[in-house]
Amino acid sequence: MIKTVGVLGCGLMGAGIAQACAQSGYKTIVVEVTEPILKKGLARIEKFLDEGIARGKVAPEVRDATLRHLSGTTSFADLVGCDLIVEAIVENLDEKRVAYGALEALVDDHVIFCSNTSSLCITELAAATKRPDRFAGLHFFNPVPLMKLVEVIRALSTSDETYRAVFAFAESLGKEPITAPDRPGFIVNRLLIPYLLDAVRAYEQGLGTIEDIDKGMKLGCGYPMGPFTLLDFVGLDTTYYVANVMFEEFREPAYAAPPLLKRMVLAGRLGRKSGRGFYEYT
Ligand code: NAI
Repeated sequence: MIKTVGVLGCGLMGAGIAQACAQSGYKTIVVEVTEPILKKGLARIEKFLDEGIARGKVAPEVRDATLRHLSGTTSFADLVGCDLIVEAIVENLDEKRVAYGALEALVDDHVIFCSNTSSLCITELAAATKRPDRFAGLHFFNPVPLMKLVEVIRALSTSDETYRAVFAFAESLGKEPITAPDRPGFIVNRLLIPYLLDAVRAYEQGLGTIEDIDKGMKLGCGYPMGPFTLLDFVGLDTTYYVANVMFEEFREPAYAAPPLLKRMVLAGRLGRKSGRGFYEYT
């Protein structure tokens, strides 16, 4: 029975995950490396809830209850009473390994570990712990409180019991989980990345202007945004990184980053976050 949830990392994703857990009634403890970063992460959650109230999407009682269920800490020792821990720290295998080791020295054997990684191998992460059967991937989408989808990924070693518990946990957050394989890109990025890379390749080959390709895919396919708007939103560096991980694994041209994407990343044109990608942002 999952009652208390730990969240490692209160960055972009960790803050959203912690909010979703607390909002669903779980006692939620989120861990950061320093007090200032923790404060910033918790403030991000409050701001998100306040904006929800302003837009009429969140009731003030829900905000208050969410914040009551939530606490922050900089000490792993405060996660001792957790039943499930979602890790959402930097995308680095060694850092994740170190964090799992430190946690395992403290928490009970029954605790399930989940990683929100976008690109690392879930089986490799599970194998870095002493609980490879109680480990799974739980891949949320940004912004977590609003996005319904969660990909649940079984490592080769994940037990049926753990898989079922994690899937049910995702449902209990009001999400719509799907089962994805432990392969780079899981399901969504496996299909999305080649599409985005194709758009860049097509543009390089003169298929049309950036604006016309975006408009074509938006109005012709009913997508909420065109591929270049989406690339700028996701971040060109993130797309390039994930494409390289996928190419490394599958060695198929569909996952090979086109030269223009690489050069835009090298030039620092990363999309919205850097003020310029395929479009300019002021
Ligand atoms: P971020 O950089 O916004 O947040 C990471 C946070 O983890 C930072 O605040 C950092 O201080 C903290 N941290 C680092 N080491 C820590 C430790 N040992 N203990 C506690 N906190 C620690 O990164 P973001 O974007 O939230 O990504 C986190 C994870 O989520 C990554 O594995 C990433 O692949 C995955 N992810 C990211 C998505 C995105 O759209 N950005 C989407 C889905 C998954």
